[in-house]
Amino acid sequence: MDNHERMSPGRLALLAGGSLGIAFAATRGLRARESYSLDGRAVLITGGSRGLGLLLAREAAAEGARVAICGRDPNSLERARLALSRIGAEVVAVPCDVADRDSVRRLVRTVQQRLGPLDVLINNAGVIEVGPAEAMSVSDYEEAMATNFWGMLYPTLEVLPDMRARGSGRIVNITSIGGKLGIPHLLPYSASKFAAVGFSQGLRAEVARDGIKVVSVVPGLMRTGSPRNAIFRGRHRAEYAWFSIGDSLPGLSVSAEEAARRIVAACKRGDAEVLFPLTARLASVMNAVAPNLTAGILGVAGRLLPAGRRSSGRKPGRACQSRISPSWLTRLGDRAARKYNQIAPAE
Ligand SMILES: NC(=O)c1ccc[n+]([C@@H]2O[C@H](COP(=O)([O-])OP(=O)(O)OC[C@H]3O[C@@H](n4cnc5c(N)ncnc54)[C@H](OP(=O)(O)O)[C@@H]3O)[C@@H](O)[C@H]2O)c1
Repeated sequence: MDNHERMSPGRLALLAGGSLGIAFAATRGLRARESYSLDGRAVLITGGSRGLGLLLAREAAAEGARVAICGRDPNSLERARLALSRIGAEVVAVPCDVADRDSVRRLVRTVQQRLGPLDVLINNAGVIEVGPAEAMSVSDYEEAMATNFWGMLYPTLEVLPDMRARGSGRIVNITSIGGKLGIPHLLPYSASKFAAVGFSQGLRAEVARDGIKVVSVVPGLMRTGSPRNAIFRGRHRAEYAWFSIGDSLPGLSVSAEEAARRIVAACKRGDAEVLFPLTARLASVMNAVAPNLTAGILGVAGRLLPAGRRSSGRKPGRACQSRISPSWLTRLGDRAARKYNQIAPAE
């Protein structure tokens, strides 16, 4: 090192002081990220009538939020409203199809009238179709896009102008690990979730200057009890069996309560992305650093999944039961279905 490269003690002290200053500012920044409280906030959760959305509503209400939920089925929506009211939550429940723009406009107008300006939007409503590509029709892709992508865009467009005007707000988008990896037998779902991830990430970069934070939630499997209401194609019972077993296995899937806690915490911190559980994180990292290896593993998984196209009709999971599911292998998922309003009392 010659004399020009050598640093004087003064410059070294300046550099050290600067670094400390940056570290201090970053720590303060992190603290500021954690300081957003949900107490008294107006929070709209799409698809809050059952599964994860219902737990998010419960978690937000426990933090003092005034909560609005929606869903298409008025009966499960009313059951959810009653369950939330019973724990003392202030809750507004509005029937709405997020795939229909006019329905979303009416939803947001009604919620704003009842709760005032919206502080937080959680785009959670989602549908899933399970089966091989040869058993899927274009309408399955249209349905997935309509709910999982357009159903995320429409509510976002409705709340953005007001959030921009007020210079604050949070938009939490529930996407999926299926939006980072193309999963065999979930093609319509994966395609729509890729769209959702891209939209969510880009939107965050654009609206940050308006004081709005967009949080992309990328969950792997969660035990929400959703397989009963998912749609199955191809060899229905075999498809339902692998999907409902995967959704029930501890280690591979995370409990819906834990997922809801993580999501609400990420919303309060204003995280760019939250990806869980560990299996999903590992899969995402592996895909980024070793895409050929990931493709090979997904290819093996694809070959293990039920082959053939026994029937091209659509059936809800509850109509695809067999000796394997429900069984002890799906015990945790079946319990979640009972707890999180997935089963109508008459069923
Ligand atoms: N469960 C998992 O393992 C998992 C993993 C990764 C990501 N996710 C995502 O997490 C979110 C919640 O999943 P979940 O397991 O809780 O699903 P779920 O139990 O099936 O609940 C879905 C909710 O969305 C509502 N919904 C569906 N389509 C709608 C529409 N067009 N308009 C309005 N509401 C609609 C449903 O009510 P109605 O049917 O009455 O409309 C229900 O309240 C979804 O976006 C899902 O893709 C789930």
